Amino acid sequence: MRIVKEAKNLSHKELKTWVNEVANLLKPEGIYWCDGSQEEYDSLCNQLVEKGTFIRLNPEKRPNSYACFSDPSDVARVEDKTFICSKFKDDAGPTNNWMAPAKMKKTLQPLLNGAMKGRTMYVIPFCMGPLGSPISKVGIEITDSEYVVVNMKIMTRMGAAVLEQLGEDGEYVKAIHTLGAPLEQGQKDVKWPCNPDVKYIVHYPEERSIVSYGSGYGGNALLGKKCFALRIASVMARDEGWLAEHMLILGMEDAKGKKDYVAAAFPSACGKTNFAMIIPPDSFEGYKVTTVGDDIAWIKPGPDGRLYAINPEAGYFGVAPGTNYKTNPNAMETIKSNSIFTNVGVTPDGDVWWEDLTDKAPEGIVNWRGEVHDPASGKPVAHPNARFTTPANQCPSIDPNWENPQGVPISAFIFGGRRSTTLPLVHQSANWNFGVYLAATMGSEMTAAAFGQIGKVRRDPFAMLPFAGYHMADYFSHWLKFGRNIAAPPRIFSVNWFRKDEKGKFIWPGFGENMRILKWIVDRVNGRGAAVESPIGWMPRYEDLDFNGLEFSREDFAKIMTVDREEWKEELLGHQELFEKMYDKTPKDFFFMRELLLSGLWRSPEKWI
Ligand code: OXD
Ligand code: MN
Repeated sequence: MRIVKEAKNLSHKELKTWVNEVANLLKPEGIYWCDGSQEEYDSLCNQLVEKGTFIRLNPEKRPNSYACFSDPSDVARVEDKTFICSKFKDDAGPTNNWMAPAKMKKTLQPLLNGAMKGRTMYVIPFCMGPLGSPISKVGIEITDSEYVVVNMKIMTRMGAAVLEQLGEDGEYVKAIHTLGAPLEQGQKDVKWPCNPDVKYIVHYPEERSIVSYGSGYGGNALLGKKCFALRIASVMARDEGWLAEHMLILGMEDAKGKKDYVAAAFPSACGKTNFAMIIPPDSFEGYKVTTVGDDIAWIKPGPDGRLYAINPEAGYFGVAPGTNYKTNPNAMETIKSNSIFTNVGVTPDGDVWWEDLTDKAPEGIVNWRGEVHDPASGKPVAHPNARFTTPANQCPSIDPNWENPQGVPISAFIFGGRRSTTLPLVHQSANWNFGVYLAATMGSEMTAAAFGQIGKVRRDPFAMLPFAGYHMADYFSHWLKFGRNIAAPPRIFSVNWFRKDEKGKFIWPGFGENMRILKWIVDRVNGRGAAVESPIGWMPRYEDLDFNGLEFSREDFAKIMTVDREEWKEELLGHQELFEKMYDKTPKDFFFMRELLLSGLWRSPEKWI
């Protein structure tokens, strides 16, 4: 096989053998070992510009940045084509698609055979987490997509330094990605190659390996992110006694300089990046929030009995629509340069635009389908799942410890869903086990018909429904067991920014004002914040929250905090439905905790506030 670029620092024999085996099956034109250098990045971006995949943005407006449009069939993660191929079906559980590994391999074999014909095969050594951290782990992604290589350069620590760390016999996760779009002799390539008909995102948890076929987009193709850092890592974490979670990590420093870190889980599209980069309102003088990560946390017990977390990623792959100087000024500053924009609009003067960036789309803008936008069409300029890929170290709120190899100590876990009723703005779980229960039963109202009935609650335990690499009920048990062995466990909280009033309007202003809730949480952790015991846990009274500088009435507070017995009876039926779905493995503790909640509700006023 022709070597397009030699490997630097390669002394790992088994890795060499594996790469050759993959090449023999996928039959690329040549093999290119990525070194992770800036020159390599620039040259691949140039290649993408020449091919027409990338549009170089105006260097005066958006230096060293590119936009691109994907194929309309390839715009998001494909959950129905995502498989956990554990040896036994029972280990994947009822919330994952499963196929026996041997059967899946037989299915993939003919698809992979010759899949890279006419293309270059890139070998990307990458590290999830800071190089040298005892919490970090190495992966090797093989791909035939230049777009994937340049995105992986932003999203991970990538290149020759990782091979050096791997040494002669280091462990790594094997990840094969192909667009599934081989080129016959003389066939001209398209701007966004992919396989519009066949896609598979496959995980072999016991083998710690991944095969992704047919898609070039996001989590389907950047295999360090959801595939490795969540699905495979959650299995490693279960086996090795740690946690791999769909959580942002932020630091909050108070006016006296006391700093606490919290980790927070929200389902996709609930504003995690915004919360991770929150700017305190003016009335919070002396307070500072810093960002460690916006999507994934790897968490291990430290020698002092606390939990320590790292962000395994090095960049943000954030949803662009809705991001603006009001919702997330730090993200806006981060993406000013050195960024890749996928499926956003491109303005006539070579900049990017998406819905809600400004009030009105600039005239003559080209939409994500590559057409000049017709405002009368009613169609959006940017795809709703349009993304920016941007380096974390450009974020103005980046935490000074974000690359600390030991991680940062976590004081609280926050779980939140999108619920227009029932769940209060904030409450604290009475203890670890109840916290695990509330995280297991969290959910969001469905906004996209794709998932089922609009408005119905889709349970998304720990915001991990699409990302747990094993049986969800075993995952609950892992959390329960894990908590028993920690001397100083973080306190657990639930938040809901999305409760609506009787007119259907959001009650809570959200965004920067969420700082008020964060402050109460951190105060609680430090034994300062006052609270009363409600039927579902500890809750602040009106006077316990800091409303300085915000007009928020007692009436609105009552609307957003009331625990309504009738609504909760309905809610508990939903919990039961979830538990019955995985009855044989649901921790028995959960059935008793549900009963305890129910009896607490009956012993409290019908509408508790
Ligand atoms: C993401 C997601 O892209 O959760 O982060 O879908
Ligand atoms: Mn996510």
